[in-house]
Amino acid sequence: MHKFGRKDMFKIDYTQFRTHLSKRRRTAATRELTKMAYSASNSVISLAEGMPNEEMFPFTEMTIKLNDGTDFVLEGEELGAALQYIPSQGYPPLLQAFREFQRKAHMPPNWENREMIVVAGGQDGCSKVLEAIVGPGEPIITQNPLYPGVTVVIAPHEPEFILIDEDEEGMSAINLRQRLEERVAAGLTMPKLMYINPTGNNPTGTVMSLERRLDIYKIACEYNFLILDDDPYHFLYFTDEAPRSFLSLDTEGRVIRVDSFSKVLSSGLRVGIITAPAQLIQSFELHMQSSHLHAPTLSQVILYKLLKSWGYDKMMDHYRKIRKFYKDRRDTIVQLAREHLGDLVEFNVPSAGLFLWLRVPEIKDTWKMIMHRGVVHGVLVAPGAAFMVDATQPCNAIRASFARASYKEMNLAMERLASLIRDELKKNRKLPLHNNT
Ligand SMILES: Cc1ncc(COP(=O)(O)O)c(C=O)c1O
Repeated sequence: MHKFGRKDMFKIDYTQFRTHLSKRRRTAATRELTKMAYSASNSVISLAEGMPNEEMFPFTEMTIKLNDGTDFVLEGEELGAALQYIPSQGYPPLLQAFREFQRKAHMPPNWENREMIVVAGGQDGCSKVLEAIVGPGEPIITQNPLYPGVTVVIAPHEPEFILIDEDEEGMSAINLRQRLEERVAAGLTMPKLMYINPTGNNPTGTVMSLERRLDIYKIACEYNFLILDDDPYHFLYFTDEAPRSFLSLDTEGRVIRVDSFSKVLSSGLRVGIITAPAQLIQSFELHMQSSHLHAPTLSQVILYKLLKSWGYDKMMDHYRKIRKFYKDRRDTIVQLAREHLGDLVEFNVPSAGLFLWLRVPEIKDTWKMIMHRGVVHGVLVAPGAAFMVDATQPCNAIRASFARASYKEMNLAMERLASLIRDELKKNRKLPLHNNT
């Protein structure tokens, strides 16, 4: 683990934010021994761990070919390590390599006092952060609409959602401040955490402006809460300027950044990384010890080899290439939506991510239309209510992904969606206006 504890350590006492559950977690001695064995010198003979002998595994070599024509081979000791248990924080060479990547990508203030932990994807990262900070019945600030992966994690704890609507620049800082002022005046419990997906909000595709990010960060400092920045679309922006991350603005140590490789390298690798003040990483590590032991080693080694072989610049080239790929698709779906759905829907052009968020002003709720009749019409999209904290409330929106369908399929899908909506409108108009029975 990276050493922290320098004199310029963050002034925040992080125990005030942690749930009772998180504070009650204890280390697993076996996991601590694995960590010790990993960092001990070669002269130490370890009989302490529960590791099997990798010589008995059936794999002898793995070659990974990349689409740039290069490849890398895993064999011998490196393959052995890739197939073994590792410390819960992650594969040490990956942690070291990604530390350098993160520093270059975000230039975070007070970098020495931040740590990282590898998790099994962004969802796992968010889930661990949420569980460490939001206790039963406690308030949490989130944007509205919201990535449902968050709702499913904390809804069982029956938290109080402080939902802040967004406009084209993301979550409204004015509404946020107003809601917090009202809470103070009413003597209500104040939130410890804000969850935000500021670049390419899933589902709306908004990118929060820098001005808005600065306003929201200032509010976080004033009202003393932490920011969970779930940023899987960070490199998938279509704006002229690259969005600044909350991590890059974080002078006080309030940002917990969750990176995911799912949208840019592979979702099946199941690797994400949490970057946060060192004191907080320790609590996520304890949770990791009790859930996965560690994120998949083979995936971590593949990611490490890729980072080593490409370095920062080639990684950025890759991100540039996929930005262009998705931007062309975004432009195409927007054009097709205008062509086929023009008079039926309203939408903003998404500024990042993989989704187009359509509103159907003449339909109160799109759920039944999509879930019951979509397949019959040969098109499947996501109903807007799925992105509301209370999915039983009516919502007239639709989320359409432009990531995978071919252009031909996209065209057909928009045509079919138009026919589905027209049918629904016809059906609704046939209903009697008043039911006198
Ligand atoms: C906003 C957001 N957060 C997290 C995730 C989960 O990503 P991962 O595959 O890294 O778990 C997704 C996936 O769609 C997402 O859109």
